[in-house]
Amino acid sequence: MGTGWGEPPLTEQGAAQLKAWRTTTRSPGATRALGRLLGKVAKPQTSVCLIGDLGAGKTTFVQGLAEGLGISGPVTSPTFTIVSEYQGRLPLYHADVYRLGEAAAEEPLGLEEYFEGNGVAVVEWAEWVEPLLPDDRLTIRIERAGEANARVVEMAASGPRHRALLREVIRRWSDWQSTPRQQP
Ligand SMILES: Nc1ncnc2c1ncn2[C@@H]1O[C@H](COP(=O)(O)OP(=O)(O)OP(=O)(O)O)[C@@H](O)[C@H]1O
Ligand SMILES: [Mg+2]
Repeated sequence: MGTGWGEPPLTEQGAAQLKAWRTTTRSPGATRALGRLLGKVAKPQTSVCLIGDLGAGKTTFVQGLAEGLGISGPVTSPTFTIVSEYQGRLPLYHADVYRLGEAAAEEPLGLEEYFEGNGVAVVEWAEWVEPLLPDDRLTIRIERAGEANARVVEMAASGPRHRALLREVIRRWSDWQSTPRQQP
């Protein structure tokens, strides 16, 4: 998908051509805030693919995303159910396919319908369901950085809709960084 992983962080000027962007969060709260920001700007048919090791911060990000969508109840990692649905400003479909591993893409989870629906579909361990992922999507990779509570969060957009969304996230995140008292 021409992700642009490994490219240097883009400046505002680069935003028009935007494919990938990365930032560092230094606490779970900051990762959550980034998720919340995405939840605020998300439009119907948003597809978010989360990639990262166990404990990287994927669910933490989704908790923020849910908050940004105005979902009040707690969002946890679904253990027995693979997909959980929540109702906010838009519906949130939260899938975690870790437990299914390599078999995930063969399971009749109906992920395609979630991606094509009018809500926000998020999949943790999205690499296991690669063949089912829509072309226009946001891929978010979370990795541990040097310090204990630091994470590098890399976002890559493929397709025009998610590129526009990513531009908005970057704009608001940059605004927040310059006026940190205002929550994103
Ligand atoms: N900057 C950070 N961002 C996110 N989480 C952080 C950060 N620093 C520390 N943490 C901690 O890392 C853990 C992340 O857990 P979380 O459940 O979000 O990970 P996950 O990627 O969903 O894991 P899993 O693959 O098991 O579902 C939490 O305990 C959180 O407090
Ligand atoms: Mg998780």
